[in-house]
Amino acid sequence: MHPENVYHRSSDGVMSLEGHDVRDLVRQFGTPLIVMLEPMIREQCRGYREAMSRRYPRSLVYYASKAFLTTGLCRLMEQEGLGLDVVSEGELATALAAGFPPAMILMHGNAKTEQDLALALRQGVGRIVIDNLDEIDRLARIAAELETSARVLVRITPGVEVHTHQYVQTGQIDSKFGFNLSGGAADEALRRVQQAQRLELVGLHCHIGSQLFETEPFAVAARAMMELYARAKRTLGAPLDELNLGGGLGVRYVSEDSPPSIEEHVEALTGAVLSAAGELGVEPPLLLDEPGRSIVGRAGVTLYTVQSTKRIPGVRNYASVDGGMTDNPRYALYQARHHMLAATRLDQPATSTWSISGRCCESGDMLIHDTTLPELGQGDILAVLSTGAYTYSMASNYNRVARPAVVLVAPGRVGLLAERESSADLLRLDRIPTWLERGPAEE
Ligand code: LLP
Repeated sequence: MHPENVYHRSSDGVMSLEGHDVRDLVRQFGTPLIVMLEPMIREQCRGYREAMSRRYPRSLVYYASKAFLTTGLCRLMEQEGLGLDVVSEGELATALAAGFPPAMILMHGNAKTEQDLALALRQGVGRIVIDNLDEIDRLARIAAELETSARVLVRITPGVEVHTHQYVQTGQIDSKFGFNLSGGAADEALRRVQQAQRLELVGLHCHIGSQLFETEPFAVAARAMMELYARAKRTLGAPLDELNLGGGLGVRYVSEDSPPSIEEHVEALTGAVLSAAGELGVEPPLLLDEPGRSIVGRAGVTLYTVQSTKRIPGVRNYASVDGGMTDNPRYALYQARHHMLAATRLDQPATSTWSISGRCCESGDMLIHDTTLPELGQGDILAVLSTGAYTYSMASNYNRVARPAVVLVAPGRVGLLAERESSADLLRLDRIPTWLERGPAEE
């Protein structure tokens, strides 16, 4: 798919999203506005579920909620039959508030707190992924205190290096996540979990990285995980029955990107697991995949209004918008590029080079350097494509900028997934210590 085919263009060069003219969306909801395309999200969910169940019927797809989460999105995931991966009390609380079935929630994290784990156990979360040795004792103790037990997977770092930004690599030996396969840490962790009271060891987990464009590393990781799986069953007699391969499939942000399709990704995973199971003489496990970006990434479009332009002859042209790193820190953090369009000038040639700057008082607050767009001026609507994943979920209030509204659109309907933050929202948590309160004389 070409990055541009998420929208339609009217004869006068105006973008519409699922039949909604962007000017109407902006009039109704303001900018910055994140527009999530419901049909595309559903299509991606179905793509995963169908590809998995066709090739590997004993499988489940969990949505990695860190990519983008609101209560409304939980409803969508539930309707599409996906489980939910959460990492914090907040993500878990969001899922529970939406009425998401706790048995279909899985909890991750390398620094889960007492509260995270206690809430997960009290609520009957279906699976907890143990990330480190400290957590084994902590989880066993909390389970005992609550007179319950936990179904756990153990996170393994399979030592697979992948080609993606170093901040989103996770499967290499030097990682804060999980137990290394090499050096015996993984075997030792499995032994300890198996001996722990109230922990039911059900499976293994790995995640090798995010925004991956190759299928080979997934197959290599799947093979390594299956070898551990078979060994643990044989030597420890561990009652393992699940393997979670952790998501990570990349999406197309700019036209040079060419990620594999969901079908190709799933074929690589399931093929590697099935052939390893055959060779190693074990029953194929229940297989889980945990995609985030490839479910929602391309289904998001952020609309901004250009507030000012500045031309520095011979140097650069800046167009400043009413958002930036506060609603999409991906360029500032990872130099990640997104395709951009002047949403009401689609019929005009892209003849100028523009750098799109955000509104924060920091030179690093940029959305891109040197992209070609038509002439821009104050009031123009700029559309940034493929912003469904890791933008709103990573948004901040730097400079006390309010977080944007998020709407869900489908043909003939539009509804809020998240209200725009107000100044009142921003002030809600502020307190004035008593000694700073103004006395009557000062008022
Ligand atoms: N499972 C685990 C344990 C993960 O850590 C992640 C992502 C996923 C699943 C989902 O991976 P995905 O299918 O979305 O690639 N903020 C960065 C991405 C960080 C990804 C972190 N982990 C970005 O904006 O590119």
